Amino acid sequence: MRIHILGSAAGGGFPQWNCNCRQCDGVRRGTLRAKPRTQSAIFVAPDGGADGVLFNASPDLLQQIKANPVLQPARGVRDTAIAAVMLVDGQVDHATGLLMLRERALPLPLWCTDPVAEDLTQGLPLLRVLGHFCGVERHVVEPDGRAFTIPGVAGLQFRAIALASKAAPYSPHRDAPVPGDNVGVLIEDTARGRSVFYAPGLGEITPPLFDLMCGADAVLVDGTFWTDDEMIRLGLSKKTARDIGHLPQSGPGGMLEWLDRLPARTRRLLIHVNNTNPILDEDSPERAELARRGVEVCEDGQTVEP
Ligand code: MLT
Ligand code: MN
Ligand code: ZN
Repeated sequence: MRIHILGSAAGGGFPQWNCNCRQCDGVRRGTLRAKPRTQSAIFVAPDGGADGVLFNASPDLLQQIKANPVLQPARGVRDTAIAAVMLVDGQVDHATGLLMLRERALPLPLWCTDPVAEDLTQGLPLLRVLGHFCGVERHVVEPDGRAFTIPGVAGLQFRAIALASKAAPYSPHRDAPVPGDNVGVLIEDTARGRSVFYAPGLGEITPPLFDLMCGADAVLVDGTFWTDDEMIRLGLSKKTARDIGHLPQSGPGGMLEWLDRLPARTRRLLIHVNNTNPILDEDSPERAELARRGVEVCEDGQTVEP
């Protein structure tokens, strides 16, 4: 299988439109060694097949399709390689791009949990709006770790697991989480026996989750914040990383400690990186620490073949 990193930034992208923090300003002016990034999405396609699954429909989806010709195989007057969309949560950065797919001739095959479908029908009623255009062919994702397949995408198998993270602000579960508000997905190439675990929003690593990560050949996990109080220290928010459902990389119990404990053969990649995270600065000590630990930072346009 091939994983195309369409967007490696968190909500807001990099640079963020209204942000003049050191990093957004630096990347905008070209004075910082860092790469611009669009908002969180990947496209996963089986070997030899054009059609695959779009994980998360970001507000930058049209730009991502233009930048990744693999998403437009041009086999007919109207065409797309997106056989289905799967959502890991119902947040703005992962869902609002659904509206950009409204010109489809047929209903959009959409795979998500019941809590996410509820949020996208009530709080942010994108599914109702799409009903006035192509419509949605909804498929229920159960966050129970059981394997399932997606029609039109041969050779890949998926398992979703409930994560402790955070539902969107317009969700009735924002402060009373239910299983399925956020999921991580194990994507398995059944012919080659290779797998990737994808979880761009991950607040806590539990033993069953860590077991699942240990079984994957590569992990693409939450790279939002370096420190828990990153946004507070910059004066940009009153909330910690953990308050909004993201496990910071540094510090006791942080993501780096967990990644260190994975089997040596596991490829470790951070994705959904917030514009305030110092790992975006390729000359930063934090980026050097990642290199020492064998942890990569995903870039837009990159392909991962586990
Ligand atoms: C998050 O991951 O915490 C949210 O998506 C941030 C946002 O897009 O507002
Ligand atoms: Mn997000
Ligand atoms: Zn910024």
